[in-house]
Amino acid sequence: MALSKKKYLDSVAASRPKRMKWWTEARYGMFVHWGLYAQLERNEWVWAIENIPKEEYEKLADTFKPKPRAPREWAKLAKESGMKYMVLTTKHHEGFCLWDTKLTDFNAVKRGPKRDLVKEYVDACREYGLKIGFYYSLMDWHHPDGATCAHDEKARRRFIDYTQGLVRELMTNYGKIDILWYDVSCPLQSPEKWESVKINTMVRELQPHILINDRSQIPEDFSTPEGSVRAAEAGRGWEACMTFNHVSWGYMRSAAHDTHRSRDILQMLHTCCSGQGNLLLNIGPAPDGSVPKEAFEPLQTVGKWIAKNKEAFYGNFDRPNIGWTSACCAHTQKGKTIYAWVKHWPGAELPLAGFKTKLLAASFMDGKKISFTQDMKQERIVLTGLPKECPDKLSTETVLIKLDFASKPKHMWCSKNAALHAWDKK
Ligand code: GLC
Repeated sequence: MALSKKKYLDSVAASRPKRMKWWTEARYGMFVHWGLYAQLERNEWVWAIENIPKEEYEKLADTFKPKPRAPREWAKLAKESGMKYMVLTTKHHEGFCLWDTKLTDFNAVKRGPKRDLVKEYVDACREYGLKIGFYYSLMDWHHPDGATCAHDEKARRRFIDYTQGLVRELMTNYGKIDILWYDVSCPLQSPEKWESVKINTMVRELQPHILINDRSQIPEDFSTPEGSVRAAEAGRGWEACMTFNHVSWGYMRSAAHDTHRSRDILQMLHTCCSGQGNLLLNIGPAPDGSVPKEAFEPLQTVGKWIAKNKEAFYGNFDRPNIGWTSACCAHTQKGKTIYAWVKHWPGAELPLAGFKTKLLAASFMDGKKISFTQDMKQERIVLTGLPKECPDKLSTETVLIKLDFASKPKHMWCSKNAALHAWDKK
């Protein structure tokens, strides 16, 4: 018998810390939007946006002919980029299933590709040691009951059975799956109508360690801010998902100036590190499965940067209680250690203000020591003898400096400005 919603959510919460451990430490994953829409090169919503007749859109299922084992290219790039997991659109809103489903012929084995693309993806993730996520769109524009289910109970029953059947296949046929990433729960208006507790109970029986996102109308394990990187409240897992070109998740030819630079990606990742969240950065492969060319350089550059700064990037961070120390940098924090993300290189000296705790050591991430002075009374640290030019050679212009304090650092921004802090003394 299905659990009540409360009992279900309580049991999910109880096992959450253990299930989420790897994910909270992983920080960075690759989202992959790939489907028939890639062939039209005008956004994954193209069918709906452009009022394309169904018979015409369906033909794309036969002309979709990806090259063999294309997902290896994505997984290789994800690995080189410092990402720890991937999430693939196994079925987007268009309803085309990339796997060998028995529940519809509108799938990759029966139509153009003539192969199970989900299997190729799973194999590639395993080959490159990446955790495996399945995106699944609840909304379905192709299924005959996908719209009528909103006002016809018989259609709803059929559509929910279909949904449960597809999710069951995904959770049964590919071994261990790490993330189920639902999307767009239209047109049914409540979790009761979606029977979300029932579906997710089944998912958890089949994959007890799995993480589920918040888009099946119940909160589940983590939140998914979209299109901007903003932290959820402390204690709640969150993962910001971002397109690569600000306009489309599916393949669309994009000029380099429309896409993220390595520096932009690092900015997003900094917000994730300091807000205890993750970044799921999308690529929309071309119809043949190739990675869009403009994605390589920024992703690989960031990957090289992460490889040099691993300790300050993966793992569990505190939320730093640190305001401005300098206009040149921002921070992340792990216990007694502060990592200053110096985004604007200051030259030979970097003053850092407001720390009320003794600094024991300062260094670059390769261990090279940095000399400093600390005036405890004035709450002012000055890092000295720094290179005149930014030592970053990767074009990210972001250099990390590690500051080891005697205890968890206390800090107050602009602490010596009497006018700013007058209200504290009231
Ligand atoms: C939105 C869009 C969808 C995309 C998703 C990614 O919900 O409808 O196309 O897959 O965001 O988060």
